[in-house]
Amino acid sequence: MQAASSAVAITLKKMREYARPGMSCKELDDYGGSLLESFGANPAPSKTYGFPGNTCISVNHEVAHGIPRKDKMLAAGDLVNIDVSAELNGYWSDNGGSFVLGEDVSGHAKLVNASRSILLNAIHYIKPGMKVAELGRFIELSAKKEGYKVIRNLTGHGIGRSLHEYPHSIANFFDPYNRDRFKKNMVIAVETFISTGARNAKELNDGWTLVTGDESFVAQHEHTIVITEKAPLILTAANDI
Ligand code: CO
Ligand code: CO
Repeated sequence: MQAASSAVAITLKKMREYARPGMSCKELDDYGGSLLESFGANPAPSKTYGFPGNTCISVNHEVAHGIPRKDKMLAAGDLVNIDVSAELNGYWSDNGGSFVLGEDVSGHAKLVNASRSILLNAIHYIKPGMKVAELGRFIELSAKKEGYKVIRNLTGHGIGRSLHEYPHSIANFFDPYNRDRFKKNMVIAVETFISTGARNAKELNDGWTLVTGDESFVAQHEHTIVITEKAPLILTAANDI
């Protein structure tokens, strides 16, 4: 898990550093693909799901599963999310992060910083035996305190021998119907979806891209972790989000 996690974390970090205004999302994704290949890792979106890209690159009103098209150009001030997930030697790992590209001309930094700190606080809030739904309550309340909403139809998930495992839904809100509990040594991907307005992401006709569907923006940050009785082991810590 650590090897797979280092591969996706270093790839995410280097892609973020490589991104420039005027660059196409395809060029950024090709770079990510070459990094994953250098680790011997197989990108999950393309290899596992048939997604048209090595990584998901979602820009501005795109929330997740953005296609890294060659006609999708990055501009200064864009809210960019890169999500990198891959398999290495039979183990899957997953991480992602939103950031402002170059100068923050559109004022997205507050949202990005809130999402990042909520994820880090949430990861440290998890204890073995705790209900998964309680983490959702914590994330939603944390977002509300900063004036934000959460996306309800995108969630974190268990991970390990496949990209998505039990517990299948680690939501960003309190779901009273979810009776799952976190356990010691469980490996999970926790991911925030912090929103300036939208509560659900909508799929575009391309069959992949999820968007807010209105004028609002969403920031996502994601780490793969191991739950322990003390501090969590953050397997993707090398991404520096
Ligand atoms: Co991800
Ligand atoms: Co994930």
